Parts: sequence; structure tokens; C-alpha cells
Amino acid sequence: MKYNFDKDTKREKTNSFKWNCIPKNTGNELYPMWVADMEFEASEGIQNRLLRRVEEGVYGYELLSEKYYEAVQHWLFSKHQYKTEKESVVYCANTMAGLSAVVQALTEMQDEILTLTPAYGNFFHVIEGCGRRVIESELVLVNNRFTFSLEDMEKKVCGRTKLFLLCNPQNPTGTVWTKEELKTLCTFCEKHKLKILSDEIHYDLVFDAEHTMMARISEELGIDTITLTAPGKTFNVAGLQSASMIVRNTDIRDEIQKTMKALTYPFEHIFAEAVTIGAYLESGEWLEEMLAYVGENRRIFQNFVKERLPVLQMADSRATYLMWVDCRKMELPTEELYDFWTKKCGVVVNAGREFRGNAKQFVRFNIACQRDRLIRVLEHIEEVFQKEGYQKQI
Ligand SMILES: Cc1ncc(COP(=O)(O)O)c(C=O)c1O
Repeated sequence: MKYNFDKDTKREKTNSFKWNCIPKNTGNELYPMWVADMEFEASEGIQNRLLRRVEEGVYGYELLSEKYYEAVQHWLFSKHQYKTEKESVVYCANTMAGLSAVVQALTEMQDEILTLTPAYGNFFHVIEGCGRRVIESELVLVNNRFTFSLEDMEKKVCGRTKLFLLCNPQNPTGTVWTKEELKTLCTFCEKHKLKILSDEIHYDLVFDAEHTMMARISEELGIDTITLTAPGKTFNVAGLQSASMIVRNTDIRDEIQKTMKALTYPFEHIFAEAVTIGAYLESGEWLEEMLAYVGENRRIFQNFVKERLPVLQMADSRATYLMWVDCRKMELPTEELYDFWTKKCGVVVNAGREFRGNAKQFVRFNIACQRDRLIRVLEHIEEVFQKEGYQKQI
């Protein structure tokens, strides 16, 4: 291995969002396993590109050059078999800014946006912050895997529903949608005249499964999809503002770009090009090694839960470094569940309620951390569970 993912990156000494938002007065040593970034250093390719850019010493307004667009096109085609032209790539700094622009461009106040829940919390904040309504269709467990219920989606959709927001692959459940499922969703959207927006920010973080871009499937059927994408999750560079949306339909793209202009979207971030090229063209080895390391962390977590914390349940998850854990068998009142994890176990997790849907009794763990920490935390949880009598319930 060229990269050392065991290295302690000492993020507690930085302004890390994940490390700085720990409740301070719980009386326990806490370990943060929530916000979706990784505890690892970025690749050499990215760091070198950034260093070179810093050394230029001038940081005025910039435009993205051809090379930025070529890097995005290259990644979409080489990794995801999705061929697109340069004009379709629209830089949007971060994917949630992209979501906000799409929502404001393509829907009106009080319009409805359908999404599958539980879902990434900022979906709700952005959509509702824009004065639109979120319509949830809850995922269902079929053969221990979370999937959608077409029947429920049919019940929820109405004339005011304008957009379908998909998370592909799905955060927090880790479902990797099959081609068949994507086709079904396309047909549904076409039937109800819904535009499709697919957030694919986690698309490279797939384990023992094959990711398919929604746009590939929908375009085969003659249906447009807007895709949100970024190197942020894949290469652990979320702080570097380098997301894009892919919009092939020129009318839709014009609408979105008009809205972005009205919202005075910022100029391109001066590091966006360096990080995107460094990630998509010069970080293959880092990605391969990171996926192997995180894949092993996923296995350790899943096996530990199955064998040593059987009061917790996990469905089949094939994507992301986010583990979606069902705590229903703990039989704790929902208000006490989060406190149990932080105060008793010393672990900061994401509470299920953030994701809406039927998820109040779930929590989400981020396992993209140094392995020794992961094992220490799991062993500590086991001790607490034994002390609290949870292991006896099985
Ligand atoms: C599904 C999903 N979309 C978007 C984001 C945020 O992306 P960005 O920082 O590009 O807005 C996250 C972060 O966790 C996410 O899980």
C-alpha cells in the first residue's frame, strides 16, 4: 500500500465540522462518527495540484478551463460509461447549491418534490428553504434490502408534484439501485411528467455491486435526467467546492443557468480545477487503496454488529461509508436513543430523525476512519451494551 490510512490525521486540532460539533459536557470521551467525510489525507495527486496552485500566489477571479470539463467528462465516461459533451457540465460549487438552483429554476412556490425517505437531511432543508414541499415515499425492506414502493409513490404523487429527487446510490441506506429499478422509476416519472434529478455524489463508493447512472438509463428511454456529481465524497475533498451538474437538455440548462445568474452564483472557486484534475486524472491508486480499506472497515463493522451486537440490525448495504443501523430492538424511547449513543457509548452518530421517513429508531455511523479507532469504538460499544443488559434480549 502506498497510502497509510491508519495515520492519525489529528482532526480534533482543526476546524473540522465533524470534530468541532461534539457536545462538550457529556462527561465522556466522545468519538465523532457522523458528518460524511473521511478521516484520511487526500491523494498525492490532489495535494500536489493544490500546492502548485497556491504557489502561483495570485488568487483573483477565475474561469474554469477546458481541462476541468475534460476531467469531468473523462470520469463520467471511464468510470460510469456515461458519454456527455462539455456544454452539459455546469459547475455549481457544491451539490446542494446545485439542488437549490434546480429547484428554483424548474418548480414554483408550493410545488411538490417527491423523494424517497429516509434521505440526506439537506434535501429537506434546501427544498423547504426554497418554499417548495417535500413529498416522501418511504423505502420498504424487501429481502432485507431497502427499496421503493411503486404503489406508495403512486399514492403520493399529484398534479402539484413537479420533480423527482433520487439519491443514487442511496444515503443513508446504502442501496445501490439496479437497472430494473431505475427503469421503473423512469417510467413512473414519465407517466406523471416529473423531471428527474439524480444526486450521484456517492457513485464511486460502491462495494460488491455495480452502480448505474440514472441518466444512462433514462436517456436510453428518451427521458432527461439532471445529475449532481462531485469528487467530494470519492476523494474526500468536500471542502473544496468542486461539484458540477450534468444537464443535457438545452432548454432545461438555460433555465437553470438563468436562475444561477439571478442568484449571483459565485465565480468558480480557484481550487476547483486543481482538485478536479488531481482527483479524476491523478488519484487512481489512492482511490483503489481507499476503497479496499473502507471496504474492510465496512466488513468489520457489519460482522461485529452481527456477531457481537445482535440487538442491532442492518439491512443489505452496498454503498457509501455510512452504516444505517436499526436500533428498534433496543426498545428505547426515541427521545433517549441519541443520548444513549452519545452519553453512554461516547459516539456521535447521526440521529435517524434527520433523515425523516420511518427512521426515528435508526442511527447512522460513518466508518471512514482509522481502523484501530473503529475497533476501539466497537469494543467500547459492546462493553456498554453488556453493562446495560442489551445483549441478554436476544
Ligand atoms: C446524498 C448527498 N448529497 C449531497 C451531499 C453534500 O454534498 P455537497 O457538499 O456537494 O453539497 C451529501 C453529503 O453528505 C450527501 O450525502
